[in-house]
Amino acid sequence: MELNIWSLLIVHLVFSTIKANPSIPEIAKYFGTKGRYEEVNPHLLEDILAVNTSILRPPSPTCRPVHLTAIIRHGTRYPTGIIFKQMQKLYQAVKRASYGKESWVREIQTQWQMWYTDDMDGRLARKGVDDHKHLAVRLSKLFPSLLSEENLRGGVIAFISSSKHRCINSTLAFTEGLTELWNIQDQKFHLDVNDALMKYFEHCSKFVKEVVRNPLALTEVAKFMEGPEMRKVREKIADQLRLPYEDITAEMADAALNLCAYELAIKTLNSPWCLFFDQHDAQVVEYANDLRQFWKRGYGYDINRKSSCILFHDVFSRLDKAADEIKYGQRVSEVATIQVGHGETLLPLYTLLGFFQDHDAPTSSNYASQIGRTFRTSDVLPYAANLLLALYDCGQGDLRLQPLVNEKPVAFPGLAEQPDSMPLYQDVKEHYKDLIQGCDFETECELFDRTHVM
Ligand SMILES: *[C@@H]1O[C@H](CO)[C@@H](O)[C@H](O)[C@H]1NC(C)=O
Ligand SMILES: *[C@@H]1O[C@H](CO)[C@@H](O)[C@H](O)[C@H]1NC(C)=O
Repeated sequence: MELNIWSLLIVHLVFSTIKANPSIPEIAKYFGTKGRYEEVNPHLLEDILAVNTSILRPPSPTCRPVHLTAIIRHGTRYPTGIIFKQMQKLYQAVKRASYGKESWVREIQTQWQMWYTDDMDGRLARKGVDDHKHLAVRLSKLFPSLLSEENLRGGVIAFISSSKHRCINSTLAFTEGLTELWNIQDQKFHLDVNDALMKYFEHCSKFVKEVVRNPLALTEVAKFMEGPEMRKVREKIADQLRLPYEDITAEMADAALNLCAYELAIKTLNSPWCLFFDQHDAQVVEYANDLRQFWKRGYGYDINRKSSCILFHDVFSRLDKAADEIKYGQRVSEVATIQVGHGETLLPLYTLLGFFQDHDAPTSSNYASQIGRTFRTSDVLPYAANLLLALYDCGQGDLRLQPLVNEKPVAFPGLAEQPDSMPLYQDVKEHYKDLIQGCDFETECELFDRTHVM
């Protein structure tokens, strides 16, 4: 008898831990670029300012960080006009689905209000402001000697942003995170708007011509959207609504996942929209989005990665400058560079550096074999995603460079075995020497071709 009570209790305990947080949809880890930063760093759900400084493991206690470059995506945002239109279409379909029996269908019909509007057009949400404020505080805890009050006041921390409103407001939020932390009220900080650097993808002629404006560039995406995996997802949604299959397009299935994602990211709601999907269906839609990113910003075409040459060189020239200043015993003139841009800013750079590359390219026909891919925007590019490069001085000319992705130490692909082994800066430069000596933005992007045409 007693044993039974104990086993019941154990079953209950196990169950309540497995059930996890009911306010988070099970499919939240498949939201791609619309996912929350907390999904890739779940410990932040408990303490949004939590930092573990022992993840940084310089080879000797004498090493000290001397420069930090942070390239950060803007925070949580509202949908843009195009996505909003698909969300509207889906909402209208649900409303006319009078035979839909599931309780969540009824809930959407009777209780849920379409509160998104066309004019939200990608603006930064309140949550997006918090994303950057909190990130700023965490980075100041991770690198206290770099992101310090003295350095901020002393003007040796630079802020650079894309001109897009959500990026500017993210940068301002990042600065506010620091000024609120140190209660600085008597000083304003300069923000440099630089689209050549943070929106380089709009300025790379070859990329615009061959990828953005080329209807054939995303053929694999179009094929997958019409393919068997997506068809099944569409049909399941249509079945739940008791609507004809042709009423639910692949774009509307994508919109359903987006609605679930936005409700969680912006309002912290586990909304009825999430119940259209099981994990498998969500992964199919996630794959469609990853395919788009792969062919438009990732390894799909060589020009995608090369379009980031300008940012690549900018990063290494900043690191070189700091390295030179150390070498000549000078003070480092820019101890931290905070650069805020887009997912589209980060992904080609990751690709150029060799991150998240799988053996086979994802296509419209190899969904099953791509389940374990590392090229997964849900993991890599949530809101406020970031690449951090921390330069360490270990004395006697021994400089090290630690890369971190979303605040976690990683290894440069092909360079070191251990994510936290801090390679020599010299070895990193040797590893990328072809890019350092080449990768000329104007040449790669064929910026001068126009003169021949004209
Ligand atoms: C902090 O990071 C270290 C090194 O990765 C790890 O061993 C340790 O468990 C972490 N501590 C916490 C509280 O997460
Ligand atoms: C940026 O912030 C300002 C001031 O808080 C606000 O008025 C504006 O609407 C914000 N813009 C965006 C795009 O979020």
